[in-house]
Amino acid sequence: MPTYCIYVYFTWSLNLLKNLFIETIGCQMNTRDSEIMLQLLEQNGYSLSADLASADAVIVNTCSIRGKAEQKAYSFIGSLRRQKEENPDLIIAVAGCVAQQEGEKMRVRMPHVDIILGPQSIYQLPDLFLQVAAARKGIISTSQSTDFTIPSFLPDLKHGLPHKRFVTIMQGCNNYCTYCIVPYTRGREVSRRRSDILAEVQHLVASGVREITLLGQNVNSYGNDQPREERTSFPDLLRQVAAVSGLVRLRFTTSNPKDLSPALMTCFQDLAILCHHFHLPVQSGSNAVLAKMNRHYTVEQYLAQVDGLRQACPDISLTTDIIVGFPGETAADFQATMDLMEKVRYDSAFSFKYSSRPPAKSCDFEDTVSDEEKAQRLAIFQNRQKEITEERHQEMVGQSLEVMIEGISKMGQGQWSGRSSHNLIVNFHSPATYSPGDLERVTITESCFNSLRAELTQKENVKND
Ligand code: 5AD
Ligand code: SF4
Repeated sequence: MPTYCIYVYFTWSLNLLKNLFIETIGCQMNTRDSEIMLQLLEQNGYSLSADLASADAVIVNTCSIRGKAEQKAYSFIGSLRRQKEENPDLIIAVAGCVAQQEGEKMRVRMPHVDIILGPQSIYQLPDLFLQVAAARKGIISTSQSTDFTIPSFLPDLKHGLPHKRFVTIMQGCNNYCTYCIVPYTRGREVSRRRSDILAEVQHLVASGVREITLLGQNVNSYGNDQPREERTSFPDLLRQVAAVSGLVRLRFTTSNPKDLSPALMTCFQDLAILCHHFHLPVQSGSNAVLAKMNRHYTVEQYLAQVDGLRQACPDISLTTDIIVGFPGETAADFQATMDLMEKVRYDSAFSFKYSSRPPAKSCDFEDTVSDEEKAQRLAIFQNRQKEITEERHQEMVGQSLEVMIEGISKMGQGQWSGRSSHNLIVNFHSPATYSPGDLERVTITESCFNSLRAELTQKENVKND
């Protein structure tokens, strides 16, 4: 029996640990929040389990950005009803944006749920577990305070790849893009204290982490909610994080183009560890639609940002988010999005059909685009983006790049998988043995849609990226 199984069997037979199953839906913020909830419950007698049927507690961390994500959450929560009937001691906690938004409505619709908690309440989860064990009745913890501060928290590295981690730098959003539910579910922007962020990064690096991704709904407005005398801008924060000794790669997401400053572009010239990737959601290529979306920039301003980034970092990989079928989007508006895509030539793009999300303001706009038309526009966009992604990957053949190793690739012994600074998956053969987080220099030999193939770069051919 492998050591891990002996450990699980031993602790199980002594009934020391309870099994915790976590289902996470949605974005990286949710992934990070699930890691925090897991760590807090591990400190309170729970152990992560991949087996839902034998769980003593289940957390469903939900996303409500589009109707489909919300339906997925409800259908998973609904599927737990039977298990709860068979095992009334099972604790079911629903976290994330659907929980925040629905609160009491969810308790009525899903009475088998014990705890409904919003994103600001995740740090209270062990307490909520104790309360539910004592009271055995549903608890709702979805209050949102403007005085909320993100607690200091030092993560452990028990799960996941050991060399990379997300660090949350802020929560919430103040932008109120008219289609978006986030400001209602995650609340107003709250920046985390700079000292806590740096302490977390230093702690992670001291524990062996080599790559950090700073997370926020709109990282460029980091610090805007802090008192003037304590305020640190996002570019300054990046510089301070980049100075943490031992950190090898630094990333961040997500940015609203309206707040992308020249100071941030300069970071790409000055900070050697800042990865060459920028996710810059444009949402639409039509000025009329952008105005209706309340995005506060025009296509021309967006293209100037793209130029600035490419001047600062010529090989930067650009990715984006697009919504098709926003209320009032005409065929000409959609064509403008296609034109923009041809101008920028994104490395990849996430694209979505518009979904009406009450209480977001766009719900009051007349939904003029039929579902069929939305699906058609989405297919046209995605097909063309697929071609551009393939062309962009093809352009990389022959280039020598540094990859950070993630582990052995699915292709088996001697085959390794890593990520480029652009965040592309690169697979290559090497007789060497690596640990996650090691760097290797490879030359791209072949492009595939989702990844690149490479071979070790001959030492005499090594030159900078
Ligand atoms: N409908 C469709 N897509 C949406 N997004 C946000 N709200 C909606 C919505 N109501 C997309 C945006 C955003 C990404 C995270 O999700 O493109 O950037
Ligand atoms: Fe939503 Fe706009 Fe805020 Fe992004 S910037 S979370 S799209 S409101």
